[in-house]
Amino acid sequence: MKIGIVTGGGDCPGLNAVIRAVAKTAAKRGWETLGIIGGYDGRLPLELMDATKRGMAELGISALVSVGGDGSLTIAQQMHEAGIPIVGVPKTIDNDLAATTTTFGFDSAVACATDALDRLHTTAESHNRVMVLEVMGRYAGWIALYAGLAGGADVILIPEIPFHYEAVCAAIQEREKKGKHFTLIIAAEGAKAAGGDYVTSGAQQQNREARLGGIGAVIAAEVEKRTGKETRVMVLGHLQRGGSPTFMDRVLCTLFGAKAVELITEGRFGRMVAHNGKFVESVPIAEATGRLRTVPLDEGFVHATRSLGICLGD
Ligand code: F6P
Repeated sequence: MKIGIVTGGGDCPGLNAVIRAVAKTAAKRGWETLGIIGGYDGRLPLELMDATKRGMAELGISALVSVGGDGSLTIAQQMHEAGIPIVGVPKTIDNDLAATTTTFGFDSAVACATDALDRLHTTAESHNRVMVLEVMGRYAGWIALYAGLAGGADVILIPEIPFHYEAVCAAIQEREKKGKHFTLIIAAEGAKAAGGDYVTSGAQQQNREARLGGIGAVIAAEVEKRTGKETRVMVLGHLQRGGSPTFMDRVLCTLFGAKAVELITEGRFGRMVAHNGKFVESVPIAEATGRLRTVPLDEGFVHATRSLGICLGD
């Protein structure tokens, strides 16, 4: 038997570890694994999206593992409904997929953003500056929140909580009074001022989601104007999406890849591997798509952030 593995969307730390785990687990059963070069833009859709299994037969594949975020998993669900034996693996640094407590890539992105905050801390303190770090995450604030907590940010701005410049500037002034002449702000790319809009960069491309980016510079300019404090911005960008995965992501990917092959063995198609906070399980792909998992405002993290005296901008 031969299984295919297809990845969709952006690169993500841990993709290779998933592929390795799928190939190893399949090999243990005497199966081959075929990587679909070009993913959904490559050989796959032309042959499979006609809702027949002709393409599968041409490639000699009996089942597919689809590794992706919301978009790719939505396609996987359509393929499942068309009768194609497929299972999913949740991939995105944004950690915004429903039905799993974590996606792979997130831990590595947070590690990168935390490291950036550590580095900005020393320069902020040396120069008595406000430093703004803009991180990814689309419409969810997971990366900003986790990195902000890990890296000791003074202000954390996430899309889930529209912010007020008065609150941000008050936090900076408070620190000044305590003799702390620098402030570290981390802002998710989807953060927005109360009553304002998302900040986007680049021209809107057809059939593509709006490209978020630029809020860090907007915040830096406004904070400098209002407080008179020298303020600098750093956009972490794609640095947080490339490179080697953390050991946590490698382990997660390995468990995810092995579980995906187990689902195929058991004939449980249309399911996505998922983490429930304790162990790896599986859920229907349909449960994971079409709705975002944003930071819940009524649970531990936001509460703890406030208890720590970190400004959330509201
Ligand atoms: O979904 C992952 C992600 O990295 C987002 O955090 C970010 O908004 C987007 O992709 C960037 O996409 P692109 O690679 O097209 O700039």
